[in-house]
Amino acid sequence: MTQKRQTLTLKPKPRAAQAATGRRPAPAARPAAQQEAPRLRQSYEVKPHLQQDYRPALAPDSLALALLGAANAVARVRAGVNLPQALAEVFNAYQATPQARGAIQDIAYRTMRKLGRSEVLLGLMTAKAPEPPMLSSLLAAALVLLDVPEGEVASYEAFTVVDQAVTAAAAHPDFAHAKAMVNAVLRRFLRERQALLAEALRQPLAQWNYPEWWIDATRAAYPDQWQAILAAGNEHPPLTLRVNRRKTSIEDYLARLAQAGMQADVIGPSALRLSQAVNVAHIPGFAEGLVSVQDAGAQLAAPLLDLADGMRVLDACAAPGGKSGHILELADVDLTAVDCDPKRLARVGENLQRLGLPATLVAGQAQDRDWWDGRQYDRILADVPCTASGIVRRHPDIRWLRRRSDTHQLATLSFKILDNLWQMLRPDGKLLFVTCSLWPQESEAQAAAFAVRHNAIRLDAPGQLLPTIGASRDHDGLFYALFQKSAA
Ligand SMILES: C[S@@+](CC[C@H](N)C(=O)[O-])C[C@H]1O[C@@H](n2cnc3c(N)ncnc32)[C@H](O)[C@@H]1O
Repeated sequence: MTQKRQTLTLKPKPRAAQAATGRRPAPAARPAAQQEAPRLRQSYEVKPHLQQDYRPALAPDSLALALLGAANAVARVRAGVNLPQALAEVFNAYQATPQARGAIQDIAYRTMRKLGRSEVLLGLMTAKAPEPPMLSSLLAAALVLLDVPEGEVASYEAFTVVDQAVTAAAAHPDFAHAKAMVNAVLRRFLRERQALLAEALRQPLAQWNYPEWWIDATRAAYPDQWQAILAAGNEHPPLTLRVNRRKTSIEDYLARLAQAGMQADVIGPSALRLSQAVNVAHIPGFAEGLVSVQDAGAQLAAPLLDLADGMRVLDACAAPGGKSGHILELADVDLTAVDCDPKRLARVGENLQRLGLPATLVAGQAQDRDWWDGRQYDRILADVPCTASGIVRRHPDIRWLRRRSDTHQLATLSFKILDNLWQMLRPDGKLLFVTCSLWPQESEAQAAAFAVRHNAIRLDAPGQLLPTIGASRDHDGLFYALFQKSAA
């Protein structure tokens, strides 16, 4: 295991404002060989002949390029790559302009949210899944732009979408031959929209836009709320900020937003939901560390730790450092932030540097002890890896990347992590167990079994938070269990 121990310095530095995205990590890339049978009709395998990195000769800021870029990213997700990584690969391959990046990202995220519906519609209109996967994905992306819900304003005129999708197809050597088919399918959708949708929506995949196993698992766990939970996961996430109380107050920061012509709702002790999402570069005071991007549910973690100055605190699965930053904003603690992924750990460093707060960063596995200095901690945060089923509105690719068997595998890993960390906690100390999962196997069942195994005292904590959208509350689906070790 590679070990890396570094102490953050507090040198002020000019910062790229995009360091904090507030996003939870999407699942890691998965080799095609490890995948189970695909849930969607389309094969997830990327055909070796597909020229994924082919740079099409299209106008840099055209809708055709945006559609093709989004299709490329969606095809990579179908091959097991998470969407942020897939988009980074596409931006690089296409040398995309900032405007093109925005358009590609927007269409790719929208396509992910409606991939089940588009697949079913394509199944009704084509005899077999269009190959290669990028062609199916191009059609799916164009369908999403055409399939505008009643009452919503279309982003593009229908004829423009069809024209640009055909142009995109024609520009790619792997499926230029299929441009007439693209034209025919999209025109047929426009002609027969009502009938096709009525037929498609009879299938749960089209109705909910989740794999059927996911729908079944949600219904089994939440017989009364499963529909609201699935619907919440299809919403666009808000941009929620955490105000850094070391540097400003909610009131002062609201005033600063107002000066910049921006509005926000207070949805937690330090949480502000912006009325309109903006790029982090345009968030007032972001670069100076006045605020961070963090979901209101995730903002509950640090206060639950009951921190005091001078404590030794471990954040055992820390990247990208959202909760580490909050911990350090609340008290002058000696924080060790561990993560198994050195690249992601570097983001903890960037985020803490922006906030001007020090920590010791360690690359290591939380289920191992080879990185530990042997001194017990007063507080431990175990924000363990999980299916991330509670944060699908931020990561609409997760549902298509996950497999039913992941729940068990991840629960086994978090079992080992929790048992290991418990040995690192001092008597009377507290351990906060957090997941961003909705599945009881990963959260409540795990917490209950842990308490029994270690005779741990269970303190008050929110337990399972379901994803909620509302005027005064708006948060992801998270789970919190707080344990105390008996005094020696
Ligand atoms: C839910 S995220 C943590 C989010 C973070 N606490 C925050 O608030 O920004 C889980 C993290 O655990 C890391 N991870 C996964 N397996 C791990 C392991 N075995 N040991 C340590 N870290 C692990 C992942 O790289 C990921 O960064």
